[in-house]
Amino acid sequence: MTKKLINILAIESSCDDTSAAIIQDGYVLSNIIANQDIHKKYSGVVPELASREHQKNIIPVVNEAISISGINKKNISAVAFTSGPGLMGSLLVGVSFAKSFALANNIPIIDVNHMQAHVLAHFIKDKKYNNQQPKFPFLCLTVSGGHTQIIIVKDFLDFELLGETLDDAAGEAFDKSAKILGLDYPGGPLIDKYAQLGNPNTFKFGIPKVKDLNFSFSGLKTSILYFVKSKVKDDDSFIKNNLNDLCASIQNSIISILIDKLKKAIKITGIKEIAIAGGVSANSELRKSIKEFENFGFKTYIPPFEYCTDNAGMIGITGYYKYLNNKFTCQKISASSRMKVDQY
Ligand code: KG4
Ligand code: ZN
Repeated sequence: MTKKLINILAIESSCDDTSAAIIQDGYVLSNIIANQDIHKKYSGVVPELASREHQKNIIPVVNEAISISGINKKNISAVAFTSGPGLMGSLLVGVSFAKSFALANNIPIIDVNHMQAHVLAHFIKDKKYNNQQPKFPFLCLTVSGGHTQIIIVKDFLDFELLGETLDDAAGEAFDKSAKILGLDYPGGPLIDKYAQLGNPNTFKFGIPKVKDLNFSFSGLKTSILYFVKSKVKDDDSFIKNNLNDLCASIQNSIISILIDKLKKAIKITGIKEIAIAGGVSANSELRKSIKEFENFGFKTYIPPFEYCTDNAGMIGITGYYKYLNNKFTCQKISASSRMKVDQY
């Protein structure tokens, strides 16, 4: 008798991307992402608009994910969905959809912690990339628009938080700095782009002194704001004439903070398997800095680009491991805007 395949329909709607994926026995068959350009003109995500966009996108995105996967809807084994952390209105769209879909098709549901999913994106099997998977235990620096954390990952569903941001996240530091420079939202990828042409040592900004393995980025943002304001007062073309060097210097400050803390965590734990995850792991300087650890006997892991930023593939792979461990939830579940990475 042939083994029954496990097909997970995964839904992600925690912030401003509506995404659906089908994961079959750990392999991604489809991963559809609808971005919300509407937030660009507001220089940040507007929660009310985000939930309305999710409402519009969710059905077409799910239909497309199922259609591209080539599987029959009847063969979906379970629905996995992001239950938190994230924006309440956004999360509720995905949670309600997942619950209704499961009820209509008489299949179980699996709630997924978005931060765990960013980490488990490393385990998505995708024939396009053939990427290597980290070995347990590994250290993961998870850096996104809402979170900055250093975690020991002991097993698929066993996480220990070592440190996190006390205020802004690394992605927020990128986006808020970009806003100061008059760049569109999200500013992270734009800072990355202009930084490639600039000198990272041109400008120096205040680096926070935070104990332990925690982070802080709000002081850096203020330092950048005051510096730019004082320069623009004397020369209103200052930003235009120095954009590449400004971006390179800002990026360098943010990445140095991240790498310093990662080195500290390595020293404390002695772990030699190093991974990064989350939207900011798309950053080219961070990717380069992580790769450099290889020269010192470390193994490093960076998820393929499409699995760094928010996507349902990562929700599907987490759902798959929860399915294998019989970790289902029930129809009473709702969304939680705040959740710790070690909360299951
Ligand atoms: O993980 P993600 O898609 O969403 C959250 O869960 O927050 O991360 C989005 C964040 C944004 O702050 C965005 O500016 C940042 O990731 N980001 C980048 C780059 N690509 C995305 N930051 C720096 N350089 C990039 N290339
Ligand atoms: Zn995310």
